[in-house]
Amino acid sequence: MIPHEYIEELTRRTDIVELVGSYVQLKRKGRLYGGLCPFHSEKSPSFYVYPDTQSFYCFGCGAGGDAITFTKKINSIDYPEAVKLLAARAGMPEPQEDDKTGRMRSRILSMNKEAARFFHACLNSTVEEARQARAYWRRRGLDDKTIVRFGLGYAPNDGQALYQFLRDKGYNQQELDASGLFKRSASGRIYCLFWKRVMTPIFDLRGNIIAFGGRVLDDSKPKYVNSPETLVYHKSETVFALQIAKRSAVRRFVLCEGYMDVISMHQAGIDTAVCACGTALTPEQVRLISEYADEVILSYDSDEAGQKATLRSLELFRNSPVKVGVLQIPGAKDPDEYIKKYGAERFKALLDGVGNALDFRLGRLRSQYDLAQDAQRLEYVKEAVNMLAERSNPTEQEVYAGRLAEETNISKTAIMTQLETAVKRAGSKHRWEKKQQALKSGEMNQINVPYSAGGSQALGIASAQQRLLAAMLREPHYIDLVQGQLTAEQFVLPQQKELFEAMLRCRQEGIEISLTTLRAFVSEEALNELSHLAAQYSDVNCTPDDIRLYLDRIARGMPMAGKAAHMSNEELSDYLQSMREKKQGNVPVEE
Ligand code: UTP
Ligand code: MN
Repeated sequence: MIPHEYIEELTRRTDIVELVGSYVQLKRKGRLYGGLCPFHSEKSPSFYVYPDTQSFYCFGCGAGGDAITFTKKINSIDYPEAVKLLAARAGMPEPQEDDKTGRMRSRILSMNKEAARFFHACLNSTVEEARQARAYWRRRGLDDKTIVRFGLGYAPNDGQALYQFLRDKGYNQQELDASGLFKRSASGRIYCLFWKRVMTPIFDLRGNIIAFGGRVLDDSKPKYVNSPETLVYHKSETVFALQIAKRSAVRRFVLCEGYMDVISMHQAGIDTAVCACGTALTPEQVRLISEYADEVILSYDSDEAGQKATLRSLELFRNSPVKVGVLQIPGAKDPDEYIKKYGAERFKALLDGVGNALDFRLGRLRSQYDLAQDAQRLEYVKEAVNMLAERSNPTEQEVYAGRLAEETNISKTAIMTQLETAVKRAGSKHRWEKKQQALKSGEMNQINVPYSAGGSQALGIASAQQRLLAAMLREPHYIDLVQGQLTAEQFVLPQQKELFEAMLRCRQEGIEISLTTLRAFVSEEALNELSHLAAQYSDVNCTPDDIRLYLDRIARGMPMAGKAAHMSNEELSDYLQSMREKKQGNVPVEE
């Protein structure tokens, strides 16, 4: 970690208006500046920069943060690189990563590199188990070039060999423990997490090895063992093979389910294949992929699980600027098997004829009905029309209505009429959903719910807490007023709790409060939330009396917030939604 004094100095020397202004044409609007968002395409400006809080926020796409977030996003670089860039801009020397965490991080990276060398050497050794491992990779169709390119290896049966190897290289016990490579048995023996497995290293964007995935050579379980989270490995933010894909001239990425699919595709010449590591796709991964890709083809397994995952991922990509296609793999369970069975050329042909997201959704829908039966055919048309109304533009509607007509033998005119009605209905539902979105994302204060009315207190409390956070960011001395009156546990929303704790901590340790210093203690998502609050309340002046008022409101409503504190994010937004429905009797039109 970079010392906070350095970050404070950097914050003082960086003016976000000037910084953003060198990329975006900004227009002054009172105390803030507006312009066209550089992170999504738009015709009228919804992107704002706030000198007061040194933050930016786009009300169109939700991108927001401080100068570092901006630099990261606009240049597609990571945190340390962004700090370096800003420091150079501000005429400061490079930050020194010489503190304890920084040193540990680089020790883990070098241990991982040694471990990968060790696994690779084991694969090439002359012993019988190595021969079997090589035979395994061969059976999977991988050639030597691919094995070297991906740094593949083999973890031997002897679970202590790697431990000894790294000890001999001078790594101490604390470092070995932090590497995530080892486990301790009940009797206290230390052994490698991976043994008798073929090994795939996982790289970060700069080519460091940050983790491993190990697969059994037979059908035993678990099929894969993956590294745990460490100082250098954050699974939800890692995309396998992205370090290769990002350098490709091709901007069409292929997103698949497994390591093996990715590796086979690369061998077949598709160097933009990537996958999420051993988890369902996350929003962070979607954001990362979207930074490098113009188009993403979802290429999941053809089983039901894969198809469900496809739908889930489609939702995640819905707000991303990339174009999404869905590949169906006929006659094979996954891309790897398809390539092995039918060859790379046929797989590439499949990729070129890929269907769009709407094709995929309609196909899924159609498979649920027997179109030979009149009643089911009608039901199918009704559902398909609803889907088109919600998810397509007028041109697409023309085309798909024609296709539906052919499929079902119902006249295109009849289908178009149904579609028009559905589009109107979807419009009102869409507006309703937007309100829900606003509710979730923290604009709930704009919705007047009397906090005295039973359960809806949570709304009033959350809103008061948001205002407090925005006020404390702008005027940190308010933290002293709030502290003691409000505990972190009383925060309704987890991200806001995180932010409040970070503010308390900075205040206590004498660290200046700004988005940029807070980022050492909170997640990027929480930071985004804070930039959102700063944007939302940028024109609200807050006096000490206001602060007391908010505190009072929270104190009076607290029992309910106590309950809300135990809800998950999802439960809470469901709950807030139900409160709102009750209040307004305003539920969406049912399909
Ligand atoms: P798959 O079972 O589809 O793996 O799981 P695969 O890569 O196609 O493996 P092969 O072809 O059978 O060798 C998809 C992904 O889910 C994760 C891994 O990341 C895998 O690549 N996974 C699967 C695990 O983490 N653990 C498991 O036990 C199984
Ligand atoms: Mn597979």
